[in-house]
Amino acid sequence: MKPYFITLEGVEGAGKSTQMKRISGWLAAQGHTVVESREPGGTHISEMIRDVVLHGDHPEMSAHTELMLIFAARAQHVHELIRPALDAGKTVLCDRFTDASYAYQGGGRGIPERDIATLEQMAQGDLRPDLTLLLDLPAKEGLARADGRGSEDRFETESLAFLDRARRAYLARAAGDPSRYVVIDAARSVTRVWRDIQDALEQRLK
Ligand code: TMP
Repeated sequence: MKPYFITLEGVEGAGKSTQMKRISGWLAAQGHTVVESREPGGTHISEMIRDVVLHGDHPEMSAHTELMLIFAARAQHVHELIRPALDAGKTVLCDRFTDASYAYQGGGRGIPERDIATLEQMAQGDLRPDLTLLLDLPAKEGLARADGRGSEDRFETESLAFLDRARRAYLARAAGDPSRYVVIDAARSVTRVWRDIQDALEQRLK
């Protein structure tokens, strides 16, 4: 069975965690050996970097520090977990990947795309997801949903305008490569969203 690298993206509150479990279950039922992971994170080193990046106590972190830490975490994740899993024939399902850097550090913080692309090449070489499911939601609605959770990392306390730029950057990337991305309207019920995801998986993973 062909292993796939599948990523799930979207602004805060888009419902990624719930859908991750369903996607993983669906893939396993199709016969895939599934490795679930997340970014920033996924390995011991990358999870330690995640703590530094997300921790609400670091308001002084510069945009470039944030970007490079996220890519340091990613380089280790690709090296230690993603590539070995794909090489072993396993399907990797990842909660966020490099599209989030283009959205949040690019769209959100205003870092030029070419700088992100340089780090992308360094950390991943030619590795790109086979399929990216973008759970799209207006930033305002996402923030309202995320507010109810209680946790407040450095991104959850960002402004509505920041998250809106991140959302737009996601949508622009998706529009630029429809063969890789499927945009799903996440403002609907969990069941409706899942139905669209399942349709996308059935159509794209042949
Ligand atoms: P999450 O695990 O709740 O999705 O949170 C991860 C946060 O990190 C989220 O707010 C988006 C942010 N992030 C970036 O800014 N750039 C990235 O490349 C990644 C992977 C995540």
